[in-house]
Amino acid sequence: MEQFINDRVKRIEISGIRQFFNMVADKKDILSLTIGQPDFPTPDHIKEKTKEAIENDYTAYTANAGILSLREAISNFYSKNYQISYDPKNEVIVTVGASQAIDVTFRTLLNEGDEVILPGPVYPGYEPLIILAGAKPVHIDTRETHFKITAEQIERSITVNTKAIIIPYPSNPTGVTLSKEELAEIASVIERHNLFLIADEIYSELVYEQPHFSIGQFAEIRDKLIIINGVSKSHSMTGFRIGYILAPPEWLAKQMLKVHQYNVSCPSSISQYGALEAINNGQEDSKKMKNVYQERRDYVYARLKDMNLATYLPNGGFYFFIDISHLHLDSFTVAVQLAEEAKVALVPGSAFSKYGEGFLRLSYAYNLATIKEGLDRLEPYINNHTN
Ligand SMILES: Cc1ncc(COP(=O)(O)O)c(C=O)c1O
Repeated sequence: MEQFINDRVKRIEISGIRQFFNMVADKKDILSLTIGQPDFPTPDHIKEKTKEAIENDYTAYTANAGILSLREAISNFYSKNYQISYDPKNEVIVTVGASQAIDVTFRTLLNEGDEVILPGPVYPGYEPLIILAGAKPVHIDTRETHFKITAEQIERSITVNTKAIIIPYPSNPTGVTLSKEELAEIASVIERHNLFLIADEIYSELVYEQPHFSIGQFAEIRDKLIIINGVSKSHSMTGFRIGYILAPPEWLAKQMLKVHQYNVSCPSSISQYGALEAINNGQEDSKKMKNVYQERRDYVYARLKDMNLATYLPNGGFYFFIDISHLHLDSFTVAVQLAEEAKVALVPGSAFSKYGEGFLRLSYAYNLATIKEGLDRLEPYINNHTN
């Protein structure tokens, strides 16, 4: 019967990150620096409000787009922090994590044969959904441009079939983000073409040194812009599964809401009350976590430099994308050798498209002692394998 399974489903594969994580998960002696899961507990005040939601019997279906108070909180958050205004009644949809926001967006926009431009290396959650929607992912090689997708690269990749561009900034897997000036140039390309820009801002609250700049601040592309965000990374709430879409104008959000409704009806009512507390009263939580991540980032940076690894200082998220091309082995082989010989697991760069080959992703969403031990294990491997 297997031949009757949908062809597109057969074409996609379980994410390389998960595959690798599963491979090492049950091996107790391997120390993992693989997962993009904040290591902080969800803040207590958020947990309290979530428990209260159960006590108060807020356990029924909610509005498809999410409870209005949460949509208002999201709208206020964007207007206060990024000076962008979205109508909570018509332009905000609360989703089951940013993952479902991405799926709803692609399924609302894409027809068979459409093309979606993405930077490479890139978060592996996009490509399979583009394929499932019958469209074609078109990766841009950003290795020569410091992992930043540029306006010029985008301009060169646009064809008559291009329907959308998706950009995560700060980026998973590189931790690189885009500046106001770089985003201005990208916005000007979008303005000149008939296509959508999907801005995945899930790491917006984890930007170091400079504040995050949202491309939504360029009002001229408002009608072509879909912003995706959520509380998974900002408040260590990955298991709550709350994300959101900001999708003006109303004609677009209206279509998205149909896909969302038939997909999930609404996100978990209880989780929505937790997210409401996070967004209304949890700005300090993100700042505290960010400061800790920043210390870890600086520590990892210093250690990688000591190992003579060509590296750069990521300005957001909690990842390093480490160049191991001088080892002259593919990244999967290096990751397997590291796990077996050095007992430390990093994600092979090839999990992030072919443009991630020659790199390993290290997540520093682990406590400093674990990070230190992981790097102590990495160092002799690198020394022994560098000619
Ligand atoms: C760039 C990016 N977008 C979206 C997601 C998915 O977020 P969520 O857990 O809220 O579905 C992730 C998770 O790692 C991510 O790295």
